Amino acid sequence: MPPWLGRGVGLAGPPSRRLGAARGRERAGQRSLGSMDLTNIAIWVTTVVVIFITAVVTKIIVTGRRATFQPGLQAMVHDQYRALGSVFTLRFFRVNITLLVGPEVLDHFFQGLESEISHGNTLDFIVPMIGKEVGFGVDLATRNEQMRFHNDALKLSKLRSYMDPMLHEVEDYFATWGQQGVVDLKHEFEQLLMLISSRCLLGREIRENMFDEVHTLFRELNGGMSLASVLFPYAPTPTNRRRDRARAKLSKLFTEVMRSRKSSNRTEGDVLQNLIDSRYKDGRPTTEAEVTGLAIMLLFLGKHTTSVTSTWTGARLLTNGKWLTAAIEEQKEITRTHGDRIDYNALLQMDILRRCIKEALRMHPLLPLFPRKVHKSFTLRTKDGAEYENPGGHTLVSPALFNNYLPYIYKDPGVYDPDRFSLNRVEDKVGGKFSFTGFGGGRHSCVGEAFGYMQIKVIWSYLLRNFELNLESPFPGTDWSKLVASPKGKVLVAYRRVAAA
Ligand code: HEM
Repeated sequence: MPPWLGRGVGLAGPPSRRLGAARGRERAGQRSLGSMDLTNIAIWVTTVVVIFITAVVTKIIVTGRRATFQPGLQAMVHDQYRALGSVFTLRFFRVNITLLVGPEVLDHFFQGLESEISHGNTLDFIVPMIGKEVGFGVDLATRNEQMRFHNDALKLSKLRSYMDPMLHEVEDYFATWGQQGVVDLKHEFEQLLMLISSRCLLGREIRENMFDEVHTLFRELNGGMSLASVLFPYAPTPTNRRRDRARAKLSKLFTEVMRSRKSSNRTEGDVLQNLIDSRYKDGRPTTEAEVTGLAIMLLFLGKHTTSVTSTWTGARLLTNGKWLTAAIEEQKEITRTHGDRIDYNALLQMDILRRCIKEALRMHPLLPLFPRKVHKSFTLRTKDGAEYENPGGHTLVSPALFNNYLPYIYKDPGVYDPDRFSLNRVEDKVGGKFSFTGFGGGRHSCVGEAFGYMQIKVIWSYLLRNFELNLESPFPGTDWSKLVASPKGKVLVAYRRVAAA
């Protein structure tokens, strides 16, 4: 038996049965990973893949190859889930990786104290991208305060002030489209989201005077997301050197902007300004290096995620006539009430569009799995009442992709059905508050959720009101080789302007 095929030790036992995943005993007749049919190449491939991906995010193995993630992984998790229940462990050499299936076993996973369960060192590769003054480069207390700065800058009461600049960017961008044509939606949204992010997060000066330079530098900084850089963030490779140079140049540009605002006593209504004005509990203001790091972090975590979700939303809408029509009708209704110029209040009323986005995210989660490292042993209880001990040192994985398709939570999970989130169905609450984890959950849930929805709504509201759209290429597959699962290849869409009603 290969060393990574340890015995599955998540055993559906009666309440109070304590099963240390590494120390668990196998009961007679129970299936374990060791009983998998190793002649089945698909299972081999998917097993290697799940371990490889988990290994990538937990830095267990080292390889120059790109990770792939086959749909067969779903089937493999499904088999183990049916055989062993919602908690089971894969053993890889001496490393135990416990999968937690279903929302009911995620309370501690998402809400436990950082000293008890955390991302571990899985996000260390971000430090050289954003700087050692913020995030995982600083101690926990400082990091928590910095998260508060992010929260404050993106809280609901601030979002209204980002509406006008966001709308301008969207209108200006689509004004460059012709009367009709074919575009790669994925590429278009990447460009547009960079413009919106620059304007709303980084501010007017960068958007108007340094956009091309910042865009190029940001692409180079993104090299830090390559597999080699994730595994060896400090190796003297050309990609890492380019990443470091890009960050230094971005720092210089942001510092110039901050100094110019201060010297001319000028303030702006953007996220950068919020970060400049933030204060630690002891009254200390943020430093230029901290503001730079926090701004880059938001750009890094907010731009691509939003652009990918916008693309999936489009792909789903344009292949589901019923929901496309419903979303267009909603726009017409809102235009009748609010007029042609959409404001923040109108945006809040786009409930069908919101559900269409959320359903696209359920079917296409950006993170197919969430990893966490256990620091302090804890016991979790499944919905059937079985108890499992999770020893310190273990890696836990919540397979979001699999959870999003659980039929006892989501009826007909393979069907695109935004209605499942309507008030009379609320399937995202069926299994408790972690039934829908498109934006994570608990302690590290996404601070940009509302801002992300806002951007996607502004974009799609504009498209639905002004264009007839058709998906020309086949429905996109998923590129699992990136840290954020994205649509594969081009997403070609034919557009035609419609005359104003
Ligand atoms: C549709 C768009 C988005 C999706 C699907 C998304 C998804 C997520 C997810 C799943 C997490 C949790 C990761 C984990 O638990 O390991 C997360 C965290 C985070 N997101 Fe987003 N995100 C989106 C947009 C944004 C935007 C627009 C911003 C900022 C402008 C942002 C900033 C962040 C930050 C700072 C965190 C880390 C929170 C923490 O660790 O405490 N995100 N996001």
